[in-house]
Amino acid sequence: MTDRAMMERGAVKVWDPWVRLTHWTIALLLPVSWWTAETARYDLHFLSGYAILALVLFRIAWGFVGSETARFGAFLKSPAEALRHLAHVGRRSAPVEIGHNAAGGWMVLALLLLLLLQAVAGLFADDLIFTRGPLARRVDAAWSSLATAVHLRAFWVVVAFAVLHVLAVAAYRVLLGRNLVRPMLTGVIMVPEGEAVRQPRLGNPVLAIVLLAASGGFVWWISTLRPASLF
Ligand code: HEM
Repeated sequence: MTDRAMMERGAVKVWDPWVRLTHWTIALLLPVSWWTAETARYDLHFLSGYAILALVLFRIAWGFVGSETARFGAFLKSPAEALRHLAHVGRRSAPVEIGHNAAGGWMVLALLLLLLLQAVAGLFADDLIFTRGPLARRVDAAWSSLATAVHLRAFWVVVAFAVLHVLAVAAYRVLLGRNLVRPMLTGVIMVPEGEAVRQPRLGNPVLAIVLLAASGGFVWWISTLRPASLF
């Protein structure tokens, strides 16, 4: 379907496939990372962590050169605007958004930075028995110990923010009757008849594939720096 045809039927492509792929893969890998750590399946835990790191690095890069709705510059608004938006939601009168709203934008940034912190800390973490990240022996023991503490604690901060994030999506459903999950699955948002909306510019798919490959390659290279004595 062409962009023009989509506009005529009130449908707007709001999330590109790369944002959706990144989102749902991370949402799936978060419990996988937890479960594999709890059950000491560290080879899988490392794989899951590397995948999250590669996806977050990709998503951050896509936030500068990707689709209009994926760009930080497009969705990061002032804190005052975020508060104004929340007040509108409270009054059940928020306008339909093409992309992240002013409050959600800050949540997106927080989640991405927390996931980055969690994954990077894992690279330097060391349980002092038989599991250590690939870079743990490349820094002082004190740094590695700090990274381990961060890796063990930041996870629960990520979970707290993820829960808040899902509650916010549910609040949109209850307070405004808007389903935000379907667009994150299909990429498409249906706008009410008669509302003037513009199709956001979509990013270059070749660039997305190159960035994904570069992020994956970079993380794979880091994984090869693991001390040879392990696994
Ligand atoms: C079943 C659980 C989840 C649901 C239903 C869900 C739903 C959504 C929805 C609807 C959006 C778009 C919000 C908007 O319209 O502005 C979104 C965005 C986002 N979610 Fe989730 N989410 C879930 C789990 C997670 C988890 C576990 C994480 C990470 C810890 C996460 C991180 C994000 C991020 C970073 C974005 C921004 C996407 C982007 O711009 O790339 N989500 N989520």
